Amino acid sequence: MERVEQERIVCACLQVTERRLREAVEGCGVRTVCELIRATEAGTGCTACHHRLESCLTRWSSPPPPLREPAAESYASPPA
Ligand code: FES
Repeated sequence: MERVEQERIVCACLQVTERRLREAVEGCGVRTVCELIRATEAGTGCTACHHRLESCLTRWSSPPPPLREPAAESYASPPA
């Protein structure tokens, strides 16, 4: 089933598969639709697939790291 999903065409104009897009997102660190378009050429035809490209990014991008770790003392009990 996963193989079928990977071979699914996301961009019909350029015949770009889900696998190619996933490789760009997971393997090349692509983080925006513009970067995905540049890396794969998907979306450079009629542009109807741009919302699907956005969905691919959302699905496969790792969440950004927190801006900063919470301070250790924020977990400490208040002084008695
Ligand atoms: S379907 Fe992707 S550019 Fe047309």
